[in-house]
Amino acid sequence: MAAASGPEKVKLWDPLLRGFHWLLAFFVVAAWCLGQFGPLIMTLHFWCGYMVIALLAFRLVWGFVGPPSARFSSFLHGPSATLGYMRGLSSREPSHWPGHNPLGGLSVIAMIAALVAQVSTGLIADPDDFVNVGPLASSVSRAASTKAVGWHHFGATVILILVLLHLAMILYYRLWKREDLVKPMITGWKDVRRD
Ligand code: HEM
Ligand code: HEM
Repeated sequence: MAAASGPEKVKLWDPLLRGFHWLLAFFVVAAWCLGQFGPLIMTLHFWCGYMVIALLAFRLVWGFVGPPSARFSSFLHGPSATLGYMRGLSSREPSHWPGHNPLGGLSVIAMIAALVAQVSTGLIADPDDFVNVGPLASSVSRAASTKAVGWHHFGATVILILVLLHLAMILYYRLWKREDLVKPMITGWKDVRRD
């Protein structure tokens, strides 16, 4: 009898990575909305930002010492592997990729880098209103803390775009490729291809 060749269900995402993801999504959305639409005094915005800093610190460590699917080395691929993956992107078939696919891996790095930049500019931003001054603003020059305000506003737009792209790709996988990526990020279990 021939061996089964379909995908196999494996426990792909560990509980800490899943916890990290959903907490990050919550606090990034909260920080973004409080920055844009919240009260004028942004104490809560700052606290959400500190939560994002703690989560990013965890993720950076987990990317080196966590289980294989969480490691940066497992989802950073060269240009040829990424282009090869992109060529199959339009096929109406689930990828059953055993982790972040090469394109998804790039977007993970882009989101983490944008968030690191965002919290860094927030910490040193001084909009000169004597209220919402980043806690480290006094440790940098006046010019830098003023510039950081502009970069922080710009960063908020970049993050919005990256998150919308993130959600659009997940929807594309669900509707076009008939692959649900969200359930594995909740339960940890994913159907992955056998190599
Ligand atoms: C501000 C909101 C969000 C941010 C900043 C964000 C960020 C991230 C990051 C950094 C990862 C990589 C996980 C890791 O390895 O560390 C990821 C993966 C993922 N996110 Fe989000 N996310 C957000 C919202 C959402 C939402 C609302 C959903 C569900 C609809 C979602 C679904 C997923 C899925 C399914 C993956 C795994 C993709 C894969 O299989 O490669 N995310 N997200
Ligand atoms: C992921 C984390 C963060 C996001 C998404 C975010 C987003 C935003 C947004 C959307 C605004 C309003 C910008 C505008 O008016 O156009 C803002 C303002 C601000 N944020 Fe953040 N922020 C984050 C983290 C932080 C952190 C960690 C700090 C410092 C502790 C901080 C300090 C500030 C300050 C001082 C302002 C006021 C700037 C001004 O009045 O013009 N932010 N942030």
